[in-house]
Formats: sequence, structure tokens, C-alpha cells
Amino acid sequence: MPAFNLRITRALAQRAEQGLTRTLLPHQGIAQGALHHHGQSFVHFSGNDYLGLANSAELVQAWQQGLGRWGAGSSASPLVTGFSDVHQRLIRELCDWLGYEDGVLFNSGFSANQATLFTLLEATDTLLQDKLNHASLMEAGMLGKAKMKRFKHNDTQHLTQLLTDDIANPFVVTEGVFSMDGDKAPLMDIATACQNRAWWMVDDAHGVGVHGPDGAGSCALAGVKPDILVVTFGKAFGLSGAVVLTRREVADYLTQFARHHVYSTAMPPAQAHALLHATHMIQTQQWRRDKLNELQHVYHDVFHFLPGYVATDTPIKPFIVGESERALRLARCLKERGYWLTAIRPPTVAQGKARLRITLTADHNPEQIIALAQELTRLFEEGI
Ligand SMILES: Cc1ncc(COP(=O)(O)O)c(C=O)c1O
Repeated sequence: MPAFNLRITRALAQRAEQGLTRTLLPHQGIAQGALHHHGQSFVHFSGNDYLGLANSAELVQAWQQGLGRWGAGSSASPLVTGFSDVHQRLIRELCDWLGYEDGVLFNSGFSANQATLFTLLEATDTLLQDKLNHASLMEAGMLGKAKMKRFKHNDTQHLTQLLTDDIANPFVVTEGVFSMDGDKAPLMDIATACQNRAWWMVDDAHGVGVHGPDGAGSCALAGVKPDILVVTFGKAFGLSGAVVLTRREVADYLTQFARHHVYSTAMPPAQAHALLHATHMIQTQQWRRDKLNELQHVYHDVFHFLPGYVATDTPIKPFIVGESERALRLARCLKERGYWLTAIRPPTVAQGKARLRITLTADHNPEQIIALAQELTRLFEEGI
């Protein structure tokens, strides 16, 4: 089909011309804050495994136990025979912990977000999203039937203004912690703006596990309870998948009508077993959050005077370098010196805001952060 060939060739060439081509780099394993690639070991500053659970012996063992008990796969979608007792226990545990009546499991945060917005919103509704919400939310808004408006990032005044306009059935969505900027949403103010006016939803992919009492997340920290809370398992839980927590009737509605739920093979029960264990680890192993906090102080101490530093009180540390080429060059030079960082470029972030996205995990130690700051300082001195 020449039309397809031409389109694909053109798009790839355009990406390459813009210096925006992305490449899959297969590594040979990640453990204890190190990534192994082509026989070399790198200090790994680009994952989202904030609490260091993904490679913890305890969680690996829990998954192995789950495999022994439940086998490898779920074998069917949830409404057929893919939903087991351990899936149910996982939902119950998450509800009891985070204060919701019921929940629906998905295989990824991406599908949880899309399913929720596609299913709940109709053409007569208005979706109001923070401008910097994750691609899964933005895309759902663009493809969905509801009218979408974006409010300025973390700007509750703008949100309030949009809510006072004559709009139908407003539904507000924000992240708890923004994935590329590492800043937190003003959840209390958003809750106030939405009170008696709109349903609201928080995607706390980067907050649950890390913030709040016992890691209960950004909403618990802010003392608010959105109508819908999305928790993803690919970050602090060290695994993958997601849950949408809400009222029983809404969960039932999603169970019946969310196509990503109805028509997709359920997550393996062994994974649900491991997730149940990760949920306990998050609540009981406060030392992981304490260590992360200490590392954040170290990061501030050694990075705050470097140009490009952005203060955040989350483990996501954007380091703004401006142009895409420079971000790539810096990431490449750091790689040569044994540090694995990701250069984040447009279209993921705005033009001129390319950055190194440095993430801290409980697997790091202070010396690694200090050494990274020293390397970056040297590179700046060399004019890179
Ligand atoms: C805020 C946010 N929501 C949703 C997702 C998607 O989650 P998943 O990776 O489980 O698909 C991500 C992933 O990066 C994210 O950062």
C-alpha cells in the first residue's frame, strides 16, 4: 500500500530531522539502583521505582509464591473467568487503605485513564483537564465525546473561572504529582472549586506509595477525597497495572461498560498476589520513604546552585537544559561517565524546555547523587 509506506517513511524522516527519534535500548537488568547495559554498569536515575520494590527480593519472592499458587496467566477477561479471589482481595485491600467503596483493575494506568474518561463522559458533558496532564488523559479527552477544556497548569483560579462559566456537567481531572515537572497539584483548592459543582478525578500515579501517611498518596496528604482516584502500579508498587477507586455504583458501571475492562484479559492472578504484597510493603516499610526524603535533601544540597535546577518536594527532579540537542548531548556525556539519565524532549515537554529527568529511588545512596552533581558541574565547565 504505497500511501502507508509514504506516510511512514515521511514521518520517520521528519522525526530524525528534528532530532526527536527515540530508540529502544535493551538492557540486561536493573538492580540496587544500577542498570546493566552491554557489560557496563550505570547508576540508574531514570526509573519510577521510587521505593526500590521492583527488584526487592521480598517482592520477587511474593510473585514467585503467586505463580506457585495461581499459575502463570488469568486465561480470560474479568467477566468471563479471569477474575479470581486474589484480584478481589487486592481491590478490597486498596479500598480499605485508601478509603473507597470499590474499585476496578486494569492492566495499565494508560488503559485505566482512557477507560474511565471514555466510559463516564458523554457528549453533553464538559471535561476540564490540567494542561500538563498525562498523554493518556489528554488523548482520552481529545478522542472522547465530551467537550474538553484545559485549565492552566495548577491554576485553580482559572479552573474556578471555567467552572463558573455556563458549562454542562463539568468533570475535572488532575494528576496528584506531575510526572515531568515533579510538582504537586493544589488538591485542597481543586476540591473546593469542585464542591457541589463538578465530579473530580485524581491520577496519583506518582503520589501513592511516596506521599501521605503510610504512603497513601497525594490526596491523603492534602486531606481530600476525589470522586475517582486512579492508582497505577508501575511506579512505587514496583509492578504494573492500575486500579480505579470510586463509589460502588460507579465501579459497577465501569465494570459493566468500560471496554478496556470487559474486552481485555485480566491481569495474571500471580501479579495480583504480588501487588497485594507490595501494598503491604508500602504501608509498613516507612524506612523506604524516609530514605527517599534524605536523598532529596542531599539532591537539593548539591544541585541547587546549578543552572537548570528546579526545586521539587517529590523524587522527580527535572533539570531544565533548554534545547533538545543539548539535553541529548548531556545525557550522552553522562552515560560515558556511568550515569543513566533520560533526556526528555518535545513533544513530551514544551519547546525549549528539554530536560534531564532525574528520579531518585530508595535504592540510591547519597554518594551517587553527589557524584552525579560533580559530573554535571564538570560538563558545564567544559561548555557542554
Ligand atoms: C501520570 C501518569 N498516569 C498514567 C500513566 C500510565 O501508567 P502506565 O505506565 O501504568 O500505563 C503514567 C505513566 O507514565 C503517568 O505518569
